[in-house]
Parts: sequence; structure tokens; C-alpha cells
Amino acid sequence: MRIGIVGSGAIGGPLGRLWANAGHDVMFSSRRPDQLRTLVTAAGSKARAGSANEAMDFGQIVLEAVPFAASLDLPADRLAGKALISASNYYPQRDGEIDLGGVSQSEALAQRLPGVTVVKAFNMMFAEEIEARANGDTNASLAIYFAGDSADAKSTAASLIEAAKFAPVDAGPLAAGWIFESGGPLYAKRMSTDEAKSKLENLARNGAPS
Ligand SMILES: NC(=O)c1ccc[n+]([C@@H]2O[C@H](COP(=O)([O-])OP(=O)(O)OC[C@H]3O[C@@H](n4cnc5c(N)ncnc54)[C@H](OP(=O)(O)O)[C@@H]3O)[C@@H](O)[C@H]2O)c1
Repeated sequence: MRIGIVGSGAIGGPLGRLWANAGHDVMFSSRRPDQLRTLVTAAGSKARAGSANEAMDFGQIVLEAVPFAASLDLPADRLAGKALISASNYYPQRDGEIDLGGVSQSEALAQRLPGVTVVKAFNMMFAEEIEARANGDTNASLAIYFAGDSADAKSTAASLIEAAKFAPVDAGPLAAGWIFESGGPLYAKRMSTDEAKSKLENLARNGAPS
């Protein structure tokens, strides 16, 4: 699969390395693509670098791993018809005050990107765990929640979670993404698959809205 990566930092960098290593064609991007040479070399022959626009055009699926405020500026027309994996989290102290209109972070992003299929994933995982896997340093199985409204896009996202050496756990529709967004009850947790599923079931039993 061709994967475009917008934001090649602590999250996008090691994910791209993992995906390239798993045989996917990856384009990292940056506002300064010339600064990505070391990353491209580390990722191997399946990787290349370009501008954010080039990466969005290249990818059959696109990962955004930029500050949340920057994700809201992604061009809907360029991404239309594609699936976008959204790894960003909203931190007001970094992103400024943003009116989400009473919906979750990923729903707010999806509202700004009509025609784009947003899947929320990777946002709840620590960068050091992803980096460790890119370095081949760990065998621990950790769960990553994902949420979205398209079965096809979710299936692709789940396969990319597995390619990154994590265990995908389906948290439901995009509206359920609040559960594991920054500030949510299941954000930033190291869990096995069983723990991750059981925590979701507990929330549902206690009447959490989805
Ligand atoms: N770090 C974590 O443990 C972690 C875990 C899960 C989710 N997240 C979330 O994932 C996102 C990325 O986090 P990260 O830790 O990978 O951050 P990072 O290391 O700072 O990388 C983010 C990249 O986004 C690009 N960027 C920064 N500001 C931008 C802007 N205004 N417009 C366009 N591109 C911009 C930068 O690339 P260039 O300067 O090269 O263009 C930067 O390399 C954030 O929303 C974060 O909250 C982080």
C-alpha cells in the first residue's frame, strides 16, 4: 500500500519506518523535506520524502501526526476520497483555544474534511513505544484503539496497527473516539488486548455515550 505521512516527528517517523519495513511504500513529509534524509535512510528502500502535498497525493491512505491545530488546516479537496488516519491530540496549551462545537476531536476534524474518511488511531500510544518497535526492541503486546465510520478504512487501519507491531482494538464509530482522545478515560494507557476490551465493556456498561 502507498502511505503518505504528514508530520514525520516522534509519531510519524517511527510509524513510517515500521510500515516501510513491513513492505509498504511510504512517503514522509515535512515543511523542510531536505531534513528527512536520515529518516528516509533509516526506513530503507521503500521510503522517500516530499512536501505535505506530495505525501497526500502519494498515499492511498494518509497518516496525519501533526499538532491538532495544524491537522484542522489539512486541505479537504486534496484528501477527498481518501482515508486519513488521525493520530493528533488536542492540547490547548500547544494548539490554542479551539471551539470543537461540542463534538470529539476527530469528529471536529472530520467535519472540516468533507469527503475524507477519518479513522482515529495511534493517538493514545506513547511515542517511545512506537520508537522501540521501529528499533526492534520489544516483544510486549500492547493494544491500540481505533475508531471510525467506514468498515473498509477501519480494516486498513487495523492492518497498519498490526504492521506497527501493536494489537488493534475496535472502539466503535468515530463518535466513540472521545473515549481515548486526550483527556478521555482510556487515553495514554499501556494495556493488553484483553484489558483494552474489558475497559471498553466497562464504560459501555456504565452508560458511556458512544
Ligand atoms: N509524542 C507522543 O507520545 C504522542 C503520542 C500520541 C499522539 N501524539 C500526537 O501526535 C501529533 C504529533 O506528535 P509528535 O510527538 O510526533 O510531534 P512532533 O515530534 O513535534 O512531530 C510533529 C511534526 O509535525 C510537523 N508540524 C509541526 N507544526 C506544524 C504545523 N503548524 N503545520 C504543519 N506541520 C507541523 C513538524 O514537521 P516539520 O517541522 O518537519 O514540518 C513535526 O515534525 C500531536 O498532535 C501529538 O499530540 C503524540
